Amino acid sequence: MIVDFSSDTTAGVSDEIMNAVVAANKGCELGYFKDEHTKNVKKWVQSQFTVPVEVALISNGTAVNILALRTMTNGVCSIICTDTTHIAHSEMGATEHSLGTKILTVSDEFGKITVGKIKKAISTLGHNPPIKIVAFSQATELGTTYTPKEIKRICDFAHAKNMFVYFDGARVANSLAYLKCSLKELVQDTGIDAFTIGGNKNGCMFGEIAVFVNPELFKDVEKYQKQLALTFSKTRFFASQFEAYFKGDLWLKNAQHANQMAKYLEQELKKIGLEIVYPVESNMVFTKIEYPLFKALTKNYILSYSNKVKKIVRLMTNFKTTREEVDSFIKAIKTLKKEND
Ligand SMILES: Cc1ncc(COP(=O)(O)O)c(C=O)c1O
Repeated sequence: MIVDFSSDTTAGVSDEIMNAVVAANKGCELGYFKDEHTKNVKKWVQSQFTVPVEVALISNGTAVNILALRTMTNGVCSIICTDTTHIAHSEMGATEHSLGTKILTVSDEFGKITVGKIKKAISTLGHNPPIKIVAFSQATELGTTYTPKEIKRICDFAHAKNMFVYFDGARVANSLAYLKCSLKELVQDTGIDAFTIGGNKNGCMFGEIAVFVNPELFKDVEKYQKQLALTFSKTRFFASQFEAYFKGDLWLKNAQHANQMAKYLEQELKKIGLEIVYPVESNMVFTKIEYPLFKALTKNYILSYSNKVKKIVRLMTNFKTTREEVDSFIKAIKTLKKEND
């Protein structure tokens, strides 16, 4: 059996979510976010905060970034993030193309942007548009997680400079499971203006949720969503997924499982002498594997280099990863290493 450690989008859908979608397939229901399922999801998100929030349901991660960032931009401005951040590195320039904004990048510190890096970028802005948004991913693309303290430091600095702070929460469930804190503590108490809750990588069929916390951003969310062609009609099938996702904290349980498997993988890789490149604070483990071993492993495992030059492999776990899969991977590495000794 081929095991996929290259991505967390290949695992399929949680049974509870698939069953909820099937159960929603009864009779007629209003579309375009006017169905009861959408109302329930919005209510659940609101219940996580003690201030009013605005919520938008969006089909995928790239699109939700565009919508959220649209509410904070007016074209003639820059967004600052690290050079590994998904909006800068992995979306074919979608944000710049759709919004006409400039994305300025800085090098990361274990995947993270820091106040020091933002200050330096401001001082070397030249003829770039002024920076209006600080953006990052939680968890980061290197599998690390910002603590609430780190986020608050960024927000305090950014707000003093009249900038918004946004995080792409494609893997925010993994970060919450790692930090063992609430959404309110991570977002409202730190000063985040808008963020997303990912579903795609953690057991949903499709979908992400944009959440706007700063009331300045509420006004035109619906208009931008329509204008950017980010709506769809049969929203009950989207929203019923998220009802099941949040019910009984399935989203956190899925993420916790993925994180535990990543920790287990890290521990077993260390035991056989492989280097762990970044702290494991979500569902990603980065290790170094030389090409001959990498190639031999790809006969039975789907793997990808995140840095071919440095031979760094990104190993992703997901809500369905088993200990047996990890054990078989470690055994395969041991066997192949022995054969080559
Ligand atoms: C941090 C992050 N943001 C956004 C996305 C984009 O998601 P989608 O492929 O659904 O557009 C991804 C996908 O890998 C991601 O890892």
